[in-house]
Amino acid sequence: MNIIKLDATPSTNDFLKALLTNQFVENFTVVTAENQTSGRGQMGAKWEVESGKNLTFSVLVKDVLVEITSIFHLNVLVAVSITEALQRFTISNLAIKWPNDILAENKKIAGVLIENSLKSNGEIFSVVGIGLNVNQKNFDDLPKATSLSCILNHDLDKEAVLVSIIQNLKRNVALLQIGDYDKFWEAYNQKLFKKGIPMPFEDKNGVRFMGIIQGVTANGKLEVLLDNDSLKTF
Ligand code: BTN
Repeated sequence: MNIIKLDATPSTNDFLKALLTNQFVENFTVVTAENQTSGRGQMGAKWEVESGKNLTFSVLVKDVLVEITSIFHLNVLVAVSITEALQRFTISNLAIKWPNDILAENKKIAGVLIENSLKSNGEIFSVVGIGLNVNQKNFDDLPKATSLSCILNHDLDKEAVLVSIIQNLKRNVALLQIGDYDKFWEAYNQKLFKKGIPMPFEDKNGVRFMGIIQGVTANGKLEVLLDNDSLKTF
């Protein structure tokens, strides 16, 4: 496994993207950092975790998007690869909150930020950024977050967790490349947070309504059954 280990960097996603612009980078190269000074989350949010305690890393996945019909397959594959690794480390109460937050015991344990770029030679590079809380114990400022050590009551070897995720990712990418993605979708939809439970939603105009999550469509939209029996996608 080709791993570049950094003490500190603004963001491992940005580090890997910069590397790609000026040299050849092997598929599945991993960049890890003990501390990210400007870690980025979904929708422009920050990803801030305790330095040295957690996994913050990015993996290069080349050309997987060329071979598939929907870029959401990669999100599904990554979320499932993480949950498979967490199960190996005996975490059982897992859920995936659409699109790809990983929850354990109803609290967020990992987040994913995938950034795709098209090179002039037609190659598509996906930088898969993963933040996984491993040995952090104090989440006073983040009551909806947790870590592996909070759940298991002992510290874990971060590298062993990292290796497990990368192995799953590689195996699942190989399956995706032969079109065998029903298995991930099944695992993803089966773990979907709040699936089948009536819950309140709010549309982009702030209008509230009740609905029941049915699943996620192939292009990554959340499918919700409304009170009037119609299906709405987000
Ligand atoms: C989210 O849940 O909002 C996504 C969080 C993604 C965080 C990871 S940490 C490694 C990689 N580098 C970043 O700057 N972000 C991702």
